[in-house]
Amino acid sequence: MSQLVRYEVRDRVAVVTIDNPPVNALSGGVPEAISEAVERAGQDPAANAIVLIGAGTTFIAGADINIFKELRTREQSIERSSAIHARLTMLEDASKPLVAAIHGHALGGGLEFAMACHYRVAVATARVGQPEVHLGIIPGAGGTQRLPRLCGPALALEMCTDGRPVDATRAREAGILDAVIAGDLLDGAIAFATARAAANERRRTRDLREKIGDRAAGIAACDAMRAALGKTARGARAPFAAVEAIEAGITLDFDAGSRREMELFADCVLSTESKAMRHLFFAEREVAKIPDVPKDTPSRKITRAAIVGAGTMGGGIAMAYANAGIPVLLKDVDQATLDRGLAIIRRNYESTVSKGKMTPEAMATTLARITPTTSYDGFGDVDIAVEAVFEHMDLKKTTFADLGRVTRPDTILASNTSTLDIDELAASSGRPAQVVGHHFFSPANVMKLLEIVRGHDTSKDVIATSLKLAKQLNKVGVVVGNCFGFVANRMLAYYMRESYLLLEEGASVSQIDNALTDLGLPVGPFGMQDIAGIDVGWRIRQHLKSSGKTRAEGPQSAVPDRLYEMGRYGQKTGAGWYRYESGSRTRIPDPIVDDVAAEEAVRRGVTRRAVSNEEIIARIMTALANEGARVLEEGYAIRASDIDVVYVNGFGFPRHRGGPMFYADTVGLATVLARVNEYRARFGDYWQPSPMLKKLASEGRGFHSDAE
Ligand code: CAA
Repeated sequence: MSQLVRYEVRDRVAVVTIDNPPVNALSGGVPEAISEAVERAGQDPAANAIVLIGAGTTFIAGADINIFKELRTREQSIERSSAIHARLTMLEDASKPLVAAIHGHALGGGLEFAMACHYRVAVATARVGQPEVHLGIIPGAGGTQRLPRLCGPALALEMCTDGRPVDATRAREAGILDAVIAGDLLDGAIAFATARAAANERRRTRDLREKIGDRAAGIAACDAMRAALGKTARGARAPFAAVEAIEAGITLDFDAGSRREMELFADCVLSTESKAMRHLFFAEREVAKIPDVPKDTPSRKITRAAIVGAGTMGGGIAMAYANAGIPVLLKDVDQATLDRGLAIIRRNYESTVSKGKMTPEAMATTLARITPTTSYDGFGDVDIAVEAVFEHMDLKKTTFADLGRVTRPDTILASNTSTLDIDELAASSGRPAQVVGHHFFSPANVMKLLEIVRGHDTSKDVIATSLKLAKQLNKVGVVVGNCFGFVANRMLAYYMRESYLLLEEGASVSQIDNALTDLGLPVGPFGMQDIAGIDVGWRIRQHLKSSGKTRAEGPQSAVPDRLYEMGRYGQKTGAGWYRYESGSRTRIPDPIVDDVAAEEAVRRGVTRRAVSNEEIIARIMTALANEGARVLEEGYAIRASDIDVVYVNGFGFPRHRGGPMFYADTVGLATVLARVNEYRARFGDYWQPSPMLKKLASEGRGFHSDAE
């Protein structure tokens, strides 16, 4: 028997232990070895029952995600699924009671293995789920057929479409688990299995139909889920395929339903959507690996924090810390400013409570972690101080000088600047090794991205600590270099440049926004600016102008400045790129903006024309990929996949497109390069292909090796 699966008999129960670190994925012969062990137990006179358990920190985290890229055709996928289904049927037909003993996670194929056992027991902290939609696929080993038989269609639909695991208590109540074990899991599972053997009981999940219930009600539940997904999963395929597979289980028998699941799985696993999402799964883990900062680099524990600046960003960052259980001082210049900031924080929490996502008690505890202050008292006790004052170099430098004075020598000093030079700030602190950029994205308590900006002197342990802290704050930390706008905003400048120019050329604000939301973005460039504030961009442009710079080379549209001059700052003033009725966030197209764009087109000698949605997407995505390549070339991002992680987590770039660099690979870099050259001929020399793009395209390669 393989080393990955161990067999022993304890108290007349065969214990089959999977030991495939780190997460007991079903790879390297694990499924075969489990079957062998169960077969052996069936014939072992010393065993009356069987327990399947995981070694280490978890039961089984599912199939090995790497194996899906081996699947090249539908037939091959269906053949492989048939073999897994047959293996699970064999487990289910075991002649002795077979009990899955779950701790940590039973996810994907892991839960499917558990559901093919006759019974499932778990510790209270265990979680079970079908997260396949996060990989652009559906459960492929009978999950869509067995899960509704255990818990009914409603919960099965929820679990297979949102992919979130459920905890042991809920799983027990719903019927997915048969018992929650209070003491030692293996002892409890052995006792449970022994009792089933004594009573001569075995229950095959595939034989259960009662929970599936009435056919018409089941179909109605599927229809309702499709309608809901129409709003929340626009452009994605896997969640809808999961509904279809569950519906097949409601209307057909187990074998026919399973067959349908295999077909749908095959369609999904071969899709670009799935390749993109699997790419992101690994990209989001890869991002924490910094070549010259090894895993064992010492990091510090962050137990207390302080934030300077109680505005929108500072308040959101304070919430992120408080949510993670870290007490935080929140400083601003005077009591009135602090009171305003705290009132917003309170309102945000109240809104979470009113949606039932937080209890009033939890709100009180979390709020109590935020201590407002108008002085630096207590800053000597914090492990990190985050500067989130107004985006102004002199002000930030003064703040860093203060922080260098009032904090301990080992306190990390982080700046939330979105554009300013970290090294300049670091110098004013007097201890540049402790200084790092922590660039949060608005709203900072919600958005997952944290750009960790590495300055020239930032120490390795500050980088290691920042990465750990990002996880603690429930963020995805991406280490980036110190260039203007870092990675996210540097590339955004090109995204915005093309949006403005397309507008001047004749596309409307809503056409451009809709083209991007159709691609899967949550909001288009103009809707986004109306949320962020047109005044914010204006201020950055003024700062740049004063130093003779522009954010992205090429024509600088005057339309955003004109809106600023008209007092149209976005949602906060009731008008920006759109207009808004009082108290509403519904975007209403405003012909005034088109008039301004038309005037600017005349001024710049641009002939207006009908612009297609395809051109909008192609121009904007090409600009992003080309600049992304430059960011890589210049070493400001470590890997192309890091840029994808930045865009997905910072700006809601659709996961099923894999990020802007992965998307470029799916378009084909030869096509992307041809577009850059075409735009250069049409619009001017400010379009220049990056050398990296040229090189990769000429070699027939992509930014990533997993995109073919
Ligand atoms: N396949 C391959 N590698 C996996 C994996 C999987 N299913 N699950 C985790 N890993 C790897 C990670 O890439 C990571 O590797 P590195 O250390 O080299 O970066 C390592 O295991 C540890 O993973 P995490 O960093 O994510 O560890 P964690 O403790 O934070 O989380 C977890 C553990 C909750 C299990 C999380 O890893 C997870 O959610 N895994 C994926 C679960 C999943 O999607 N399962 C479904 C697979 S598809 C399937 O099963 C289809 C089917 O029907 C047959």
